[in-house]
Amino acid sequence: MAKKVVLAYSGGLDTSVAVRWMIENLGVEVICVSANVGQEGTLDGNREKALGAGASAYEELDLREEFAREYLAPVIKANALYEGKYPLVSALSRPLIVKHQVDIARRYGADGVAHGCTGKGNDQVRFEVSSMAIAPDLELVAPVRNRGFTREDSIAYAAQHNIPVAATKEKLYSIDDNLWGRAIECGEMEDPWATPPDGVWQMTKLTASEPRDVVIAFEQGVPVSLDGERLALWELIVRLNQVVGSYGWGRLDMVENRRVGIKSRETYEAPGALAVMLAHADLESITLERDVQREKIRLEHRYAELVYDGLWFSPLKAAFDAFIDETQRHVTGEVRLRLEPGRCYVTGRRATKSLYDYGLATYDAADRFRHADSEGFVQLWGLSVKTWAAIQGVDPNA
Ligand code: ARG
Repeated sequence: MAKKVVLAYSGGLDTSVAVRWMIENLGVEVICVSANVGQEGTLDGNREKALGAGASAYEELDLREEFAREYLAPVIKANALYEGKYPLVSALSRPLIVKHQVDIARRYGADGVAHGCTGKGNDQVRFEVSSMAIAPDLELVAPVRNRGFTREDSIAYAAQHNIPVAATKEKLYSIDDNLWGRAIECGEMEDPWATPPDGVWQMTKLTASEPRDVVIAFEQGVPVSLDGERLALWELIVRLNQVVGSYGWGRLDMVENRRVGIKSRETYEAPGALAVMLAHADLESITLERDVQREKIRLEHRYAELVYDGLWFSPLKAAFDAFIDETQRHVTGEVRLRLEPGRCYVTGRRATKSLYDYGLATYDAADRFRHADSEGFVQLWGLSVKTWAAIQGVDPNA
């Protein structure tokens, strides 16, 4: 049994109760770590809450820059959308948090890592599998999953033990957010037919009315500037969330397959993420050779599944990253997005090494395409099906 554990601490009810519960029931020393990954609200007060709940130490980290550079850049390059839609918001912050939890565990000589996830979700999988991949010697402790408290139990436990929490019995939604977007679950939305109430949206409230353009520049697949202004990736995403979000665009409503086998109704808002990936995939349409583009598209779904399923640190994901990086060598250029209330769409793209050849594509006098070559090409392309038609093909009169 572990003696000293590092808990990924949000400052909420569950993780605050978990601190005291682990101390009392597992006899461990608890070190709390809170991370800024660009979520709304601040971590102010987390130190007092953690220590007040009984933690022996508290560490706070600003991980926004690293999150963007090491976790968002790869998924932008991969156009990674789980089940074709979800930009993996929560699935991306977990491995990053685990990496730092492990660093802190090493610094403090801890022998376990803990999280406050329940047994029904994906986040437990991501926390624990990431940890197994990079620190297989550390014990995994999941107090919330194991003690099976209801929300009322937790509130009562916090009151009994004088644990400072700001929680009410009515917590309508389960929310997880970071730079890359925001997930909103539970409440009335557990009925997949129910329309999400207006009040759930934070990042995508429509406030803009005048249409506008925004130009995103990429270098080797990674966004580097917005309307000509060079920005660190994390800042660029924050900016894009504000701009695109103000047009009320970037919402998702889906029923997704969780790793544990449950179908779950989820709503998300990720205006910056969805806009940037729309632009990135478009830039690839002029910079990737056809077969590279086709093969990459085949891998993108699989890549998103790996990340969703907690396999950020895995050999297959690393191999995909190497392939994807190779494809991004010339994905350098600009994409113009048009924003209108409720809409965001591409209106132009250009690249220094664009494969779009006007002389080949045009129908006007500048045409350099050798039309005569097509005759033989089409004959041979269709030869197999022509042979089939003559010998086995369906007789349209039969
Ligand atoms: N369904 C999403 C995912 O699995 C969002 C999870 C949000 N987590 C949460 N604790 N509310 O990535």
